[in-house]
Amino acid sequence: MPASATPLLCPVCRDRLELGGAAGRALVCPAGHSFDAAKQGYFNFLVGKGTVFEADTADMVAARFDFLSAGHYRPLADAVAELAAAALAGVVATRPGTVLDAGTGTGHYLRALLDRLALNVASVEAIGLDISKFALRRAARLNPEAMNIVSDVWQPLPVGDDAVDVVTVVFAPRNAAEFARVLRAGGRLIVVTPRAGHLEEVAALAGLLGIDPAKDERLAASLEGHFAPLSADRLDIPLSLSPDDVARLALMGPAGHHLDRGTLATRTAGLPPRTAVSARFRISVFEPRR
Ligand SMILES: C[S@@+](CC[C@H](N)C(=O)[O-])C[C@H]1O[C@@H](n2cnc3c(N)ncnc32)[C@H](O)[C@@H]1O
Ligand SMILES: [Zn+2]
Repeated sequence: MPASATPLLCPVCRDRLELGGAAGRALVCPAGHSFDAAKQGYFNFLVGKGTVFEADTADMVAARFDFLSAGHYRPLADAVAELAAAALAGVVATRPGTVLDAGTGTGHYLRALLDRLALNVASVEAIGLDISKFALRRAARLNPEAMNIVSDVWQPLPVGDDAVDVVTVVFAPRNAAEFARVLRAGGRLIVVTPRAGHLEEVAALAGLLGIDPAKDERLAASLEGHFAPLSADRLDIPLSLSPDDVARLALMGPAGHHLDRGTLATRTAGLPPRTAVSARFRISVFEPRR
């Protein structure tokens, strides 16, 4: 099978990777460093020393997958997909577009984006990065057309300079310098963050971590040197959640690393059949400074 070019860089020597190998399921650089797809279809680029970051565990990922699959955050996925489609509209008339979803998790938002782009974009190449292999097993199944890579966003990204048109980051860490490096001039960074009051009705019960009231300023400040803000939209979603939904919400976020599962089960068992909860998001769009 002939090798095909990719926007990816070898995590060992930073030379270009091509997709090739016997079954076309290995990424190989000119120096011969080779990364086989895991049987679930993702690639593991974590080389050398382990990372200091705590990856989401299998039960956290399962909770996220079940919660998102139920469609609770569908309006958010649609809004992000719409913004990405708008950003790509001018590009794809001349060449395939490239999208990077950093901290892709189970691939839920990238799936919505790919479905949206399929409506009017001839060709788009997608990369999903996450540090959790449990998340990427799901993402690879959901988004088989994407290159799903286990990688740490706090390390140099395994992606070439000026190789990407849109970076999406939905509740995941942001490495501003690296996002700016991989984005082409005129590219877009789309960031989703929670706003004050997000899930506040169940925050205490579900042990959710508090939202920093200065989050917006912190987001702008962390990106300031590399990105200029273009727009910021609020999106509120009224949810009606079952006790199981609330338990999933608790487990799927960063609090899931520390929550005692038994205590959580006792607390959610005391909830009524339905709890009204507001999800409050901000979707911000930035362009790289050049
Ligand atoms: C709250 S989840 C959001 C996942 C997905 N974007 C979504 O909204 O469904 C945060 C994700 O960031 C990933 N993550 C955390 N630290 C990371 C790092 N240093 N590099 C790459 N991914 C990381 C986690 O594994 C997790 O999948
Ligand atoms: Zn190499």
